[in-house]
Amino acid sequence: MNVLGIESSCDETAAAVVQDGRTILSNVIASQEEIHGPYGGVVPELASRRHVEIIDQVCESALHKAGMSMEDIDLIAVTQGPGLIGSLIIGISFAQALSYRYNLPIVGINHLEGHLIAAMMDKNDVQYPVMGLIVSGGHTILVKMDDFHNYSIIGQTVDDAAGEAFDKVAMMMGLGYPGGPVITRRAKNGNPKAVRFPRGMVRNRNFDFSFSGLKTAVLYQLRKEPQPLSDYAVDTIAASFQEAVVDVLCKKMIKAAHHYQVKTLTIGGGVARNPVLRERLNSLGAKHGYKVILPDGDLCTDNAAMIAAQAYHDRDEAHYAKDKAIEPKPNFPLHHE
Ligand code: KG4
Ligand code: ZN
Repeated sequence: MNVLGIESSCDETAAAVVQDGRTILSNVIASQEEIHGPYGGVVPELASRRHVEIIDQVCESALHKAGMSMEDIDLIAVTQGPGLIGSLIIGISFAQALSYRYNLPIVGINHLEGHLIAAMMDKNDVQYPVMGLIVSGGHTILVKMDDFHNYSIIGQTVDDAAGEAFDKVAMMMGLGYPGGPVITRRAKNGNPKAVRFPRGMVRNRNFDFSFSGLKTAVLYQLRKEPQPLSDYAVDTIAASFQEAVVDVLCKKMIKAAHHYQVKTLTIGGGVARNPVLRERLNSLGAKHGYKVILPDGDLCTDNAAMIAAQAYHDRDEAHYAKDKAIEPKPNFPLHHE
């Protein structure tokens, strides 16, 4: 079964062709970083306009790279939410137009389920239960999975998302948007133990997260530094901040893994690209006897391969656009209704 996936929930226009939920034949991602960078965050109206301009080229390119035409596609998958309403509408409208034109079934996918499946989609031997951590620009959610369809949220952030913390801290230091990659780069030259930033809620009994106290602590630390900030100060604070985020995410995840007696750990979402988080999870997982499954770089940040992969598992929910419209859901919760 060849699935064409379409993703436009935020500032990436993406399309992919995935076979049987596991084999990625193409995965095209057009990032809008250059458009939003100067504003220090995503400008929704600009995001929608850019999606309109390039979504057809992105889909065409995904088909071309897969060596296919629309006639080879069996199912269309599109992100239904969560995300920016204007951006979602572009992807959904385009996908529905394809469904009409080529008389193909279509299925709306939860973007967060996509992030959750990204690392596991091509693995045969995933041992459940799995503890999954979604860490993106908008979400930090800990999920216990019994299989692809059966999962429950066991913890989430009570304030900022992990990626949002990276973005805000980068902004405070004048490093631009998005914050994750640039903080990762600067942190390589800094000492992660130089400043002991607070680890929000790390000792709580529950599995929730909090990053706003950390963000405020970074702000106070920055105010103490001589201005303009030296490269040394930026590197040090970037490394110490990153260490605090990684430490909290890993500690909570291991604690939850013990509590729920899972076999496997996985992560997804943009922050899963972070090399220190990946290394730490690998080493802690090995130490505690869990298998760790990490997604490749391009499958961490927003992409359409994860949407197409999830659609394969949700194919029973597919219908024709002419029979029923897909409703964009900006606040689509992770739970199936
Ligand atoms: O999943 P994603 O592409 O979009 C959302 O669904 O939100 O995640 C984007 C987020 C941004 O906050 C970005 O700063 C963060 O992922 N990110 C990183 C890294 N690369 C991207 N955070 C930490 N380290 C990275 N290397
Ligand atoms: Zn995302």
